[in-house]
Amino acid sequence: MPRHATPRRYLMCPPAHFKVTYSINPWMDPTKPVDVPLAVAQWEDLMERYRSLGHTVEQLTPRPELPDMVFAANGATVIDGRVLGANFAHAERAPEAAAHLDWFRTHGFAEADVHEPAHINEGEGDFAVTSSYVLAGRGFRASPLSHGEAQEFFGRPVIGLDLVDPRYYHLDTALAVLDDATDSGDAIMYYPGAFSPGSRAVLRRLFPDALIAQEPDAAALGLNAVSDGLHVLLPQAAVGLFGPLRERGFEPIGMDLGELLKGGGSVKCCTQELRC
Ligand code: ARG
Repeated sequence: MPRHATPRRYLMCPPAHFKVTYSINPWMDPTKPVDVPLAVAQWEDLMERYRSLGHTVEQLTPRPELPDMVFAANGATVIDGRVLGANFAHAERAPEAAAHLDWFRTHGFAEADVHEPAHINEGEGDFAVTSSYVLAGRGFRASPLSHGEAQEFFGRPVIGLDLVDPRYYHLDTALAVLDDATDSGDAIMYYPGAFSPGSRAVLRRLFPDALIAQEPDAAALGLNAVSDGLHVLLPQAAVGLFGPLRERGFEPIGMDLGELLKGGGSVKCCTQELRC
């Protein structure tokens, strides 16, 4: 399958105030120090890499009282220029939702296209967009009710998937969309161990050719990846994924976001895609 990249627009938030002061996922240990200048340098590498690949990166202003704001993927989901805001499961992150909505309202998105959700959802943390579906995680963060809300708002079929392992608390820690082009067919990679047996069967049925990740690569947060259809940016420690990605025609690019891993996030968590 010949792959091709398409230019993307991303929203990112620099980790200027990144800290681990509370623990809302098993990766977060508030007793471990965080090196902020290193986090900023790693994040800048990621942003520069996107730009060098021809993508547009927009920036959200970080707020000192919101240490997880660097994980911009959680702030909203944007499809066809329409914005489904977030509604965070934990009080510590709740004000991030308004910061994202403000950004959209002041950056050319019409009020009619911006929806404040009734149900808990953490943006692209639990929503993954393919050409055919919105894949939607639940179990740790997003409410199952948010799936119906997303389906109604976007008018795309939403496929609910049950997450069962707390290390993979968001869908984007266990599954990545590699190709979302209508003409080449959807391609994904995922780690089956993160899903319930029924959800694994659903994934096998919808994506029989998916790249199946092994445990060590999943544990390196290797599924927290961003693809433009050709280049796949992923945590560099997920070495077992590089060969299988190349075999499928992708170009894996390993990134070091080791400081941000202390918050339980990597490449994808830092990157919200603006599908406009
Ligand atoms: N500390 C953040 C949290 O637990 C990390 C979020 C990571 N983001 C993601 N898209 N998985 O909410």
